[in-house]
Amino acid sequence: MRNFALCYINGRPHEITGDQAFMTVAEYLRYEKGLTGTKVVCSEGDCGACTILVSRFSSGAMGEYKSINSCISFMYLLDRCHIVTVEGLKQENHIHEAQQKMLDSHGAQCGFCTPGFICAMAGMAEDLKISGKPITEQKVKNYLTGNLCRCTGYSPIIEAGKSIDLTKVKILGNVFNDKNIAQTFTDLKDTSLLIESKGREAFLPGTLNEVVEYKTKNKKCSVTSGATDLGVQLNKGHSVQGKILSLNNLTEAYEILDTEKALEIGAKASLTDIEKKCEKSFPEFSQMLHLFASPQIKNKGTLVGNIVNASPIADTIPFLMVAGAELDIVSDSGKRTVDINDFYQPGYKKLDLKDDELVSKVSIPKTSGQFKLYKVSVRKDLDISTVTFAAKYEIENNKFKSIDIAFGGVGPKVLKVSGVSNTALGQTLSADLFSKLADDVISEVTPMSDHRGSKEFRFKLCQNLLLKFGKEIMNKALV
Ligand SMILES: Cc1cc2nc3c(=O)[nH]c(=O)nc-3n(C[C@H](O)[C@H](O)[C@H](O)COP(=O)(O)OP(=O)(O)OC[C@H]3O[C@@H](n4cnc5c(N)ncnc54)[C@H](O)[C@@H]3O)c2cc1C
Ligand code: FES
Ligand code: FES
Repeated sequence: MRNFALCYINGRPHEITGDQAFMTVAEYLRYEKGLTGTKVVCSEGDCGACTILVSRFSSGAMGEYKSINSCISFMYLLDRCHIVTVEGLKQENHIHEAQQKMLDSHGAQCGFCTPGFICAMAGMAEDLKISGKPITEQKVKNYLTGNLCRCTGYSPIIEAGKSIDLTKVKILGNVFNDKNIAQTFTDLKDTSLLIESKGREAFLPGTLNEVVEYKTKNKKCSVTSGATDLGVQLNKGHSVQGKILSLNNLTEAYEILDTEKALEIGAKASLTDIEKKCEKSFPEFSQMLHLFASPQIKNKGTLVGNIVNASPIADTIPFLMVAGAELDIVSDSGKRTVDINDFYQPGYKKLDLKDDELVSKVSIPKTSGQFKLYKVSVRKDLDISTVTFAAKYEIENNKFKSIDIAFGGVGPKVLKVSGVSNTALGQTLSADLFSKLADDVISEVTPMSDHRGSKEFRFKLCQNLLLKFGKEIMNKALV
């Protein structure tokens, strides 16, 4: 069993053990390594000042470099990773093309946000160069949704991103000789990692058996996936680090299998990878994930984390409910499969998940039917929803042959409105029908007032989303 995490930073290996393993990546870089180009402003994944690039070792090779928020990630999670900070982007006498273009476009004033923007842009350049896609203004805006600037104004920053010449961008894997880095990780004897310090313990097993064994012995340990929820809770002092279990070093946990019958998503698959994989099989869900958080959050956050965090406004749950997704839950007693609709028990964050269990996989069945998914939030990008809507339906002879509707943000948990769905079943599509559904929905949802919207506003949103759904599918039926 290894008692240190091994990671590379800007091409150099570092062994991390004891206290250091429990530091946020931003703290470690700044206070232990003096890499102060990485800034910390919000400490909750919202501003992007702490953006770094990370490549993960898997199956003998290094993966692509992706941007993440280092303020809500922990060093133990970056075992067998290569971190590139803003300092590492400069090679010999050449600054990175993203750095050059920020200079040329006068993209900085106080400069505090600048390293984060540069790392996010370098991540974009890396992605687009590898996928052979051109840079467009929309793409620049998409890749920069996780970065905020208080002084410069976004025009020069977007201009900098747009003017990046991809032919001048060197793939980081070549700059840093990823093959050598991967070889060092391959040579590590133990995949499993256990680090202890001051009553804290982080266990990253290399096999599912070890995972299950540990969870059986340490029922109250906290399971960490991407830590985009947990990291914020820790930084805000809402929870403390104790015993931590993560599937981080389990290769199969990152797999996404696209079979004839279902899309099977491992517990550690990132939301970015899922968004890409869903483009063909579940395009509406892929589009919904496009609006989810920012690239930095999606490169680390997982679907399983979203599901188990069980927020009533989680973006993915309404879709998964109407799609009839199934969860594989593992423990010492073996594996059981649970319909996501039975996973959420009455009340706030009450789950059919015992202390000795964890979720290993999500399967989304490929059954017939179409989807409509809506997210209403105060801001379009990087915002948590006020109300979400998901419908799965089939239409035959202008009537609903099947229909299933769910709302998020309307009570203590995401809710299927079965009364509304039953009323619609078998009915002819008409403006009157959707008006009735909009009237009826009021008696099924129990929204509350908070800073995102009043109870009355949420009632209105539910009604209007049903009317919008009706209009859109009736228009489609006419085409
Ligand atoms: C800036 C920001 C923006 C965000 N935007 C959105 C948004 O637009 N929409 C949205 O829905 N959410 C959003 N989130 C919330 C968060 O990113 C998601 O909920 C994400 O999917 C969590 O995944 P994770 O892997 O990071 O989970 P983690 O933080 O690692 O874990 C979350 C919970 O799941 C549990 N858990 C994790 N893995 C397992 C497992 N295998 N078995 C059992 N339990 C497990 C953990 O113990 C914890 O309770 C945002 C968060 C931030 C910080
Ligand atoms: S410091 Fe704001 S996202 Fe990390
Ligand atoms: S240049 Fe000051 S915050 Fe962006």
